[in-house]
Amino acid sequence: PTSLVTYRKSKVSSPIPLPGLKSKTCNSSSPEWTFNSTLSNLIRKNILRFLDAERDISILKSTFKPGDVIHYIFDRQSTTNISENLYQLLPTVSPMKNQHYKQCAIVGNSGILLNSSCGREIDSHDFVIRCNLAPVEEYSADVGLRTSLVTMNPSVVQRAFQDLNSEEWVQRFVHRLQSLSGSVLWIPAFMAKGGEERVEWVIRLILLHTVNVRTAFPSLRLLHAVRGYWLTNHVQIKRPTTGLLMYTMATRFCDEIHLYGFWPFAHDPDGKPVKYHYYDTLTYHYTSRASPHTMPLEFRTLSALHRQGALRLHTGPCK
Ligand code: CTP
Repeated sequence: PTSLVTYRKSKVSSPIPLPGLKSKTCNSSSPEWTFNSTLSNLIRKNILRFLDAERDISILKSTFKPGDVIHYIFDRQSTTNISENLYQLLPTVSPMKNQHYKQCAIVGNSGILLNSSCGREIDSHDFVIRCNLAPVEEYSADVGLRTSLVTMNPSVVQRAFQDLNSEEWVQRFVHRLQSLSGSVLWIPAFMAKGGEERVEWVIRLILLHTVNVRTAFPSLRLLHAVRGYWLTNHVQIKRPTTGLLMYTMATRFCDEIHLYGFWPFAHDPDGKPVKYHYYDTLTYHYTSRASPHTMPLEFRTLSALHRQGALRLHTGPCK
């Protein structure tokens, strides 16, 4: 049977896997959920043995210079360079330095958010993390508007903004960037080859339009460290999803973590169809062997942590 993470309070240093946790879905709106701060602190402490999100959230100007060669994390034989423009956008100090928040929301992109009326609740958190530049304005009642940190895989430029192939798409993209004023834009630029041109376009637009975002480019060790943490806890993920990466990092700077829009299933608990993304027509691909992710396993893991009070997974409508 698949083992899932659990922790015993008595063993601070080594989390103990508990085999056979059922994949029973949690009732996210159940009133009996209480925050388990002891467990949450323990998880933070254990994750810190693998990574420090304050540091690993971004490489810094002081460690690189223009022209430096970087090996892609997943395509080790392929390399890219730190361009002059990218160098300009490297932070001088970590964008999360000395940041600490009581309640954070991490918003995944599942269609389970549609008709949830969770927008206001999501926005009420002290820090709101979103994934892959997902649109908010048209869906604000269900997903909220606030963004403290948003991720952007280079592929988003192609998938959601037509590879900026017309002036209209460029304008839409710039508008989206401008709406992020003050937030952290987290770009995993060195994960897989193929995105360097898109990263460069984005960087140029940010510089050209003096967009007020704080850019961050994850450290080269982050992904392996996150994977290492979960594998050590017997969660056999292939490649952590953006959502799991964000949860793992958020434990560093958030007390209570609330997850919304995590539902990698084609149907809701009542059997009604659920879109893969709340905002587009992409279909489910995670079940295919080719998918780099193991989303249902991640979901079961997060559900187990929800039941133990380490985080709260919201999968139903909000009040
Ligand atoms: N997610 C989910 N259920 C879905 C869709 C997304 O739980 N039906 C979560 C996943 O953790 C995912 C995150 O929401 O990483 C953001 O969604 P998305 O932008 O779709 O990420 P992906 O493009 O699927 O994957 P990647 O992690 O590679 O960026």
